Amino acid sequence: MSADPSGDLILGIESSCDETAAAVVRAGTEVLSSVVHSQAEEHAVYGGVVPEIAGRSHLESILPVVDGALAAAGIGLGDLAGVAVTTRPGLIGSLLVGLSTAKALAFARGLPLVGVHHIEAHVYSATMDAPHEARYPCLALVVSGGHTALYRVESPLEMRQIATTLDDAAGEAFDKVAFLLGLPYPGGPSVSALAEEGRCDAVDFPRYRSRDGSLGFSFSGLKTAVLYHLRGGDALAPTPAPEDIPDRADVAAAFQEAVVDALVKTTLEAAQREGLEQVLVAGGVACNRRLRQVLADRGRAAGLDVLFATPERCTDNAEMIGGLGWHLLAAGRRADWDLNASPR
Ligand code: KG4
Ligand code: ZN
Repeated sequence: MSADPSGDLILGIESSCDETAAAVVRAGTEVLSSVVHSQAEEHAVYGGVVPEIAGRSHLESILPVVDGALAAAGIGLGDLAGVAVTTRPGLIGSLLVGLSTAKALAFARGLPLVGVHHIEAHVYSATMDAPHEARYPCLALVVSGGHTALYRVESPLEMRQIATTLDDAAGEAFDKVAFLLGLPYPGGPSVSALAEEGRCDAVDFPRYRSRDGSLGFSFSGLKTAVLYHLRGGDALAPTPAPEDIPDRADVAAAFQEAVVDALVKTTLEAAQREGLEQVLVAGGVACNRRLRQVLADRGRAAGLDVLFATPERCTDNAEMIGGLGWHLLAAGRRADWDLNASPR
């Protein structure tokens, strides 16, 4: 058994929200296996993640998912050099399932254990395919169902948040607008698919701008603007049933454009203020084709190099946890057995 923290193979475990995931990653970047069990179907009927259902579902899936990742990598627990697990932020009941599993495996096998910050792992995921292309310090945009924030990144192990959302995350806005338009959860993929058929300039939805010039995001006003538009401009009118909305595709396209425009504008502004020439982009919403296109184009025009996580690695996965976990262990950040999870 290897217990060398600078050794190669790390088992990564992720259970912070509604994906149960495990992966085996060598030396931070080489993915031997990656298994993701999505609970999306279990939550779809509620239009969002139900924490109690998520925790129970993780409990049922975690061991088969871990076994699946080890089997797909063709290794046993004895071949591992360490276990990395998401400890924050996320749903506490869900995080504890992954953490308890990781602790039990690491303790039983005498392996080093390391806790990984979920958002830092998303940032790291954008560099996994081409680590030599990352140029620190750089900027990172993390856009997911739970987070929309910008970070100044000094290294994979050191970053500082410089802007966040005042209210909804971008993915959450997609999910809520999908609900209004009668589209399935998760809303990002279904809204963006419908948007392909619409005109992005059909409705001029508002873009948030802070009053004091500080950097930040806000999507709740946009969501309300979509709702009032559907009500024909009368805030007190009833919300029409999805099948009675004549311009559904146009609304989807114009909404998506407003989200993309706000994300891109603020990201470019932050890069300029911080004097940074590269931006890493990750998180579920970074799958969005329009965001990828507009950010790449406007970034290039502004002299900003944009590095996206691969679409498969944008949504929650354990590759990024095992990958960053290796760097943390190599830097001596092994956790004690009292390692705890935190929602924040
Ligand atoms: O990173 P992630 O898997 O989980 C969180 O940590 O939240 O992100 C999930 C979010 C959901 O809100 C989903 O609607 C959104 O990412 N999403 C998208 C797309 N694919 C997923 N949003 C916009 N366009 C997409 N193509
Ligand atoms: Zn995430």
